[in-house]
Amino acid sequence: MSQIDLLSPGRIGRLETANRLVMAPMTRSRAHEGGVPSELAIEYYVQRASAGLILTEGTAPSAGGLGYARTPAIETPEQVAAWKKVTAAVHAKGGAMFCQFMHVGRIAHPANRYTDEALVAPSAIRADGQMWTDAQGLQPMPAPRALETSDVASVIEEYAQATRNALEAGFDGVELHSASGYLPMQFLSSNSNQRTDGYGGSVTNRIRFVMEALDAMVEAAGGADKVGMKISPAMPFNDIHDADPVETYTTLVRAVAPLGLAYLHVLRTALPNTFDLLRPLYPGTFFAGGGFTQASGDQAIRSGLADFIVYGKLFTSNPDLPRRFAKGAELVVPNPATFYTPGPEGYTSYATAA
Ligand SMILES: Cc1cc2nc3c(=O)[nH]c(=O)nc-3n(C[C@H](O)[C@H](O)[C@H](O)COP(=O)(O)O)c2cc1C
Repeated sequence: MSQIDLLSPGRIGRLETANRLVMAPMTRSRAHEGGVPSELAIEYYVQRASAGLILTEGTAPSAGGLGYARTPAIETPEQVAAWKKVTAAVHAKGGAMFCQFMHVGRIAHPANRYTDEALVAPSAIRADGQMWTDAQGLQPMPAPRALETSDVASVIEEYAQATRNALEAGFDGVELHSASGYLPMQFLSSNSNQRTDGYGGSVTNRIRFVMEALDAMVEAAGGADKVGMKISPAMPFNDIHDADPVETYTTLVRAVAPLGLAYLHVLRTALPNTFDLLRPLYPGTFFAGGGFTQASGDQAIRSGLADFIVYGKLFTSNPDLPRRFAKGAELVVPNPATFYTPGPEGYTSYATAA
């Protein structure tokens, strides 16, 4: 057992962090039309700047990667300019921030997008499910177009360009969202990837998209220490299923380990003992998330199971979570009713502890 706990300083790539709490990437659906972060986002993130690291809400690397209502992108000059205001304000408060790239693939509805392009995915298999649209309420998600082999390079280039945009916007780094059933996980998983080219079939082929996206992001960032990745092995969300998640994720983590990324971010999922399985395969900085309390987070760090703990819902209603932990202050219970509703209520309306 080490003496290090949640409130000990840490290091992520070249960043020195004040503590080992990471704010989870959380879609909050307060962006303007056209994928532009709103002014409210500045206040929201500034209120949470005492996290060791903030991960942004899922942010589309390109118009074709955006799927949900009122979610942001980091593609156009207007979007980049809006993000610049967020990072500048967070840095002024001493915070640090990575931008999470969320390309949704087939998890989208055209009514939420600012492009007429068809949804894209590894295979032309519709996700079984509905999505909220402001104009038409809940709607079934349409079938995606299967990416041609030659299209895949363009999508990878979108991640590279988004990385350049994020650095220009002042982010300290970028995270590839390879979890929760979105595009990278659609490539990893056997039910959504039925390709017969070099991106489908064997596990080596199914991890290829993620490896190429990471390589492109690392090159664009000028170093692996500004790039992280999130995975959620065997997460049963967004109609995603893999026949052998243990094989898929042990192979992926072994392949990613030598890259020397800023961190690997693993969400606790249905796979039994996800952290016990993957932590020994990953010698670098390891983030663990999913249902942690202060006590279980401290325990995970002390035992060496994780280097940082990612907190999601608790950060929605406790903007100064590190301080509350330090003081043993009471925590405000998160309110799911305002997770995705427009406006300040339930977003910037939570007070910091006295
Ligand atoms: C409102 C909300 C939005 C979320 N949006 C995202 C997202 O955009 N990207 C992502 O990787 N995870 C997203 N998640 C999952 C969180 O990052 C985190 O993995 C999850 O909430 C588990 O951590 P917790 O138990 O501490 O909340 C979201 C979770 C919540 C509650």
